[in-house]
Amino acid sequence: MNESEWKIHWSNSLSVGVPEIDEEHQQFVARVNELNEAIVECRDKPTVERLLDLMLMEASHHFWHEERLLVKWKYPQRAAHAAKHAQLMRQFERVMKEFEQADISFTWALKGLHIKQLLVDHLLHDDMKFRDFLRNKENPKQRVDKTQVRKRSRAAV
Ligand SMILES: [Fe+2]
Ligand SMILES: [Fe+2]
Repeated sequence: MNESEWKIHWSNSLSVGVPEIDEEHQQFVARVNELNEAIVECRDKPTVERLLDLMLMEASHHFWHEERLLVKWKYPQRAAHAAKHAQLMRQFERVMKEFEQADISFTWALKGLHIKQLLVDHLLHDDMKFRDFLRNKENPKQRVDKTQVRKRSRAAV
């Protein structure tokens, strides 16, 4: 497999605009690439297992950190977002258990890829929603627009 087919490259389009969260997401992308590389190169099961363990440990810490910030920012969908994190962790734990029992390399390679895909999807879809929320909150133009709307609606009364 060509490297460009599986490697994820960090770009500004993945940034949520919060340096501490971007840093963790960047670390996550690096971890995903490391895991993919190990799978593509057919490394031994303990190597892939160690990388998966590390990725899940970091994901768990990252989820906790992100949820604390979502509360601080008063993100309206914070409860639903936290529920998605919890659901992902349950899926990971189940896959890790199956992974430990699987002998056939093809099976555990697929499980590794499945976990990775779930995490990438969460970053691309769910985390981008709070990025948009923060952007709207911090964009002065939008605030002006809202003020004008309020003024207009008051004038209309
Ligand atoms: Fe998240
Ligand atoms: Fe995240």
